[in-house]
Amino acid sequence: AIDVEEITRIVDAHSALEGPLLPMLHAVQEAFGYIPAQAHGPICEALNITRAELHGVITFYHDFREKPAGRHVLKICRAEACQSVGGANMAEALLAKLGLDWHGTTANGAVTIEPVYCLGLCACAPAAMVDDRVVGRVDAAKLDRLLAEAGA
Ligand code: FES
Repeated sequence: AIDVEEITRIVDAHSALEGPLLPMLHAVQEAFGYIPAQAHGPICEALNITRAELHGVITFYHDFREKPAGRHVLKICRAEACQSVGGANMAEALLAKLGLDWHGTTANGAVTIEPVYCLGLCACAPAAMVDDRVVGRVDAAKLDRLLAEAGA
């Protein structure tokens, strides 16, 4: 269950900051692993913004999740250098094969697939990241292997 007091504590701790929304959202995600719907009301109230505005911010920044992630997170780079060497097709093919959209999690809860915008590994594009580990020169076979390792 979501600890509503924890949400209140985070909101209170950040609402006096200048530009409080992003630090607040990062702190909520840090605490819960995602931005639970129960946080929307308190955040909107504290910052005097609408739910639509809040939703716009959460969906604009790719780091924020609206649902809990799987046990592992596979991020695939969607920025220019990786796209230009086949990263886009590779990612689309993988999602199609898994029957997922971006931010989707495999049915067994093992892996969530998320987009990322440059991992600083452009020289070894296409790049990906599994949890905290970056991986260069990714192709379909390597992706399969990474997913298998992660238990997908
Ligand atoms: Fe993909 Fe830089 S563009 S790592």
